[in-house]
Amino acid sequence: MTIKNQKEYFNNTYEKWKEISDEKGSIINKAINILGISEGHSVLDVASGTGVLYSVLRNMHLSNYVALDISENMLKELQQLYPKTKTICDDFDKDMDFAETFDYILIFNSIPHFENLNIVFSNAKKHLKNGGIFAIIHSKTRKELKEHHKRIGYNLGREAIPDDDTLYELVAKYEFREVIVRDDDFFYFSCKK
Ligand SMILES: C[S@@+](CC[C@H](N)C(=O)[O-])C[C@H]1O[C@@H](n2cnc3c(N)ncnc32)[C@H](O)[C@@H]1O
Repeated sequence: MTIKNQKEYFNNTYEKWKEISDEKGSIINKAINILGISEGHSVLDVASGTGVLYSVLRNMHLSNYVALDISENMLKELQQLYPKTKTICDDFDKDMDFAETFDYILIFNSIPHFENLNIVFSNAKKHLKNGGIFAIIHSKTRKELKEHHKRIGYNLGREAIPDDDTLYELVAKYEFREVIVRDDDFFYFSCKK
């Protein structure tokens, strides 16, 4: 299996991504703790899907939350679940040009879908406040995700979660600092602008 067109694929399958298991919820809570997200912070949720991350973040009294996704059906579903949520339907694999900046830019359970990590890091840098944090989180570890993709016959032709060398190169190139990488019970990467 390969996904040729992300927008089309997720527009057709949006209904199957709504589920928030207890395990996923617990990982999101752990990640939020490490990140230090709290009241008054602003968050850009990149590849938000139907708002799985927001199901936890919505209780945190954020100053601003924006869900960005390439699939309009995913965002429609998110707005059904959480009316009044701000959304942007756009491609984060392309140079982004909108005015807002955020304390946090998060990519949850979606990094395998991004082909151009240079653009992703450059977009994150551009839309973070100074001192803001960019994070890539996956509820599976690198090894678990590899095994899962093998099981379902999903072939990306690249690492689903970038390896440490790639991440550190991107951090250096886009002048981020304070890197954290964890790959124990789930995958967690963060860096600061
Ligand atoms: C596996 S789903 C995960 C969604 C959500 N984060 C969650 O945890 O349920 C991957 C999401 O990435 C989005 N996506 C894929 N490529 C994208 C891109 N280039 N820009 C923005 N979103 C993208 C898809 O539309 C989909 O909603």
